[in-house]
Amino acid sequence: MKMTAFAAVSSIALFSASSVLANPEAEVLHWWTSGGEAKSVAVLQQEFADNGGTWTDMPVAGGGGDAAMTALRARVLAGNAPTAVQLKGPAIQEWYEEGVLADISSVAEAEGWADVLPASIADHMKCDGTWCAAPVNVHRVDWIWANTDVLEANDIEMPTSWDEFNAAAEKLMAAGVIPLAHGGQAWQDATVFEAVALGILGADGFRKAFVELDEATLTSDEMIAVFDQMRTMRGFVDPNFSGRDWNLATAMVMNGEAAFQIMGDWAKGEFMAAGKVPGEDFLCASTPGDGFLYNVDSFAMFDVDGEDKKAGQDLLAKLIVGESFQEVFNLNKGSIPARTDVSLDAFDSCALLSSADMQASSDNGSLLPSYAHGMALRGAQSGAITDVVTAHFNSDMSSAEAVAQLAQAVANSY
Ligand code: BGC
Repeated sequence: MKMTAFAAVSSIALFSASSVLANPEAEVLHWWTSGGEAKSVAVLQQEFADNGGTWTDMPVAGGGGDAAMTALRARVLAGNAPTAVQLKGPAIQEWYEEGVLADISSVAEAEGWADVLPASIADHMKCDGTWCAAPVNVHRVDWIWANTDVLEANDIEMPTSWDEFNAAAEKLMAAGVIPLAHGGQAWQDATVFEAVALGILGADGFRKAFVELDEATLTSDEMIAVFDQMRTMRGFVDPNFSGRDWNLATAMVMNGEAAFQIMGDWAKGEFMAAGKVPGEDFLCASTPGDGFLYNVDSFAMFDVDGEDKKAGQDLLAKLIVGESFQEVFNLNKGSIPARTDVSLDAFDSCALLSSADMQASSDNGSLLPSYAHGMALRGAQSGAITDVVTAHFNSDMSSAEAVAQLAQAVANSY
C-alpha cells in the first residue's frame, strides 16, 4: 500500500517536472547526404545539441528530395510523422491542408521573423496567415560551374549566351573533354531545363509557363526552342550519364574530366567541402539570360504528441532562423542566408553575386521560383512537366511532340 502511494506521488512529480522542464528532442527527416550537405546539416545538429536537444537523424539519400518525400508520405500515412521535415514551396501548404502541420507562429513572433525575412520568402512559410515553416537559406538554381584549368587550356570563356555555350561545348568535344557533367535523373534534367527555359523564354515567359501554366506559352515557338537546346545538350553529356548522382557530376568538373555543370549552388557546397577555391579552382556564373531562379530550403514541424517533441520543434525553429546558424550553415551549403541582416563579409564571390543578383531581380521583377525544385507549383503540376522533360531528354522525341505533350500533361494534372 505504502509502495503504491509512493509510486503515485513520484510519478506526479515526474510528470509535472517534465512538462515544465521538457528535454527538447527531434527526429529530423532530410535529404542532405552528399559531402557538402552532410557538413551543413552537422552545423544544425551541433547547435541543437549545444542547446540541450537530442537529435535523431533520418536522412533519406536522393538529390532533389524525391525519395525523402516518398518516405515522408509513408510515415504520415502510418500515423508516425517525424518531428521536423525538410519541406519547401507549395508542398508546405499541401501538407498543411492535410491538417498535419504544427503552428510555429509563437516562435516566429517571439523571434521577429517578419522583420528579418524578405516578404518573398516569408510568404512561402505561411499557411492561412500562420507560420508553418522555418526558412534556412536561398539557393539559386540557374548557375553554371566550370573547371578553371580546363577552360584555360582550351581557351574558353564562361559562356554568356546559349550559342556561346554550344560553341564552347563543340570545341571541348573536339579536344576530348566531356563538355557537360550531368546526372540522368529526372530532377537533374528538370534543373537544366528550367535554366535553359529562363534564358530562352526570359523572365516573363518563364513566369507565364511555369508559374501561371499559360497554355499559349507552353506551346509557343520559344518553348520549342527550349527543347531544341535540350536536344543539343544531350549531345554534350558522356555515355554514362544515366542515373548518376549530382555530386558525382560535380566531382567530374572538380577533377577536370568535364568542363561544365549546370546545377544549383549546392554544387558549390561540394567544391568547398573538397577544399576547392572559387575563382581559382572553379568558376561560377549565372546561366545565359536574365533573371534569378530561387529555391528556399525550409523545415516544417509535424503535429506530434509529447512535451519533449514540441520543445524540440520550438528549439529547432528558433535555431534555424537564428543569425549565427544562418551564417555558418550557408557558408557550408553554398547558398546565402534567408535573413537579410546577416553579414556577408565571410562569403565568397559566388555568394556575393547571388545576393546582388537576387536584389536586382527582385527590383526588376525577374526573381522567380524554381519549378524544378518545388517552389513554383504543386507536386502534381511540376511532376507532370518533369515527366515530359525527362522523356524528351532520354529519347529521340521531337521538340514539337514534347511541347504538345507538355500542354497535355499540364492539362491532365489538375
Ligand atoms: C535542395 C538542396 C539540396 C539539393 C540536392 C535541392 O532541392 O534544395 O538543399 O542540396 O536539392 O540534394
